[in-house]
Amino acid sequence: MKIIGTGSALPQKEISNDMLAGFLETSDSWITTRTGIHTRRLLSTETLRELATKAAQAALASSGLQASEIDYLICSNVANSYVSPSLGSILLGTLGCVCPTFDLNGACAGLVYSLDIADSFLKTGRARNILVVAAEQPSRFCNWHDRATSVLFGDGAAAMVVTEGKGFRDFRLTGVPHTDVMYYKRSLEPTPFDRVEERTTPLVMEGREVFRIAVESCINDVDVLLQRNGLTGADIDKYLLHQANMRIIECIREHLEQPREKFPTNIQKYGNTSSASVGILIDELSRAGELKDGQTLMISTFGGGFVTAAAILDWSAIQY
Ligand code: UT7
Repeated sequence: MKIIGTGSALPQKEISNDMLAGFLETSDSWITTRTGIHTRRLLSTETLRELATKAAQAALASSGLQASEIDYLICSNVANSYVSPSLGSILLGTLGCVCPTFDLNGACAGLVYSLDIADSFLKTGRARNILVVAAEQPSRFCNWHDRATSVLFGDGAAAMVVTEGKGFRDFRLTGVPHTDVMYYKRSLEPTPFDRVEERTTPLVMEGREVFRIAVESCINDVDVLLQRNGLTGADIDKYLLHQANMRIIECIREHLEQPREKFPTNIQKYGNTSSASVGILIDELSRAGELKDGQTLMISTFGGGFVTAAAILDWSAIQY
């Protein structure tokens, strides 16, 4: 499977750390030092559907394919205004696609989970051209009174068109039941039969524990993929890691003993955009000509659950 088109879209509204310090007991220096984040973009006047559509249209345009040529749409999303229909179904309408679609919730690892499924669909001949969209609005399930979580996230969308060809070499997906370290609980409708009161609980996170599990599991995924493919850390041209915390990225880099230039980041500008994060990074690097033909890339992501998804691929340059 190879990527033949990429796109991304971010909300207009930029929120600085100082703006957050206006209503939270926090500071620019705390957020910058502990996370590396300077600003994030948050949805205000636009909708997630509009953002996802923009990212998908850009990916389609760069792939040279028409919406009608897409024969599967996989949409990675944690939460949006609708439980049903899926965000994927909504996007069929805005994009003009007529094909099967579903939403996948792999938390922040959802884009790579979606790519892994796309790879299987292509290998088994179930589809020829697949559009993968990752669209997230964590700002709408954060607790805006909790300084330890709300400062971390940003909204955004990324998209990729994938088709058969040489590109992805290997995937590694994992899951371990740590549902208590990070969760967002949505209430369900009351019924006359079930007396358990349902309450929405905005994002709860044990930051230190998530940090520890994230570093340990990403290092493990990267090491397994390198070993399984007969590679060393030095053989990878770029490490594209989930943009959750600059210190997490730094811990992984130190373990691999690879130079900083191999670890591009955009967390400074966008914060943690959940499953859209590595997709936005790939789109921006690709458009800037920073991903070169034949380069070997390592993607590694993690998210609540606890789930991880990593991949190795050989890059083919895209014309924009
Ligand atoms: O996609 C997955 C998403 N989640 C993650 O990746 C989260 C991973 N974890 C982290 O990134 C870090 O654990 C955090 C950035 C969330 C927190 O950083 P930390 O260095 O682990 O800080 P901490 O939780 O140990 O808190 C240290 C102190 C505490 O105060 P006391 O108890 O020492 O007085 C916190 O209350 O920092 C305080 N604190 C803050 N202070 C100012 C927590 N958040 C803030 C804040 N501003 N925003």
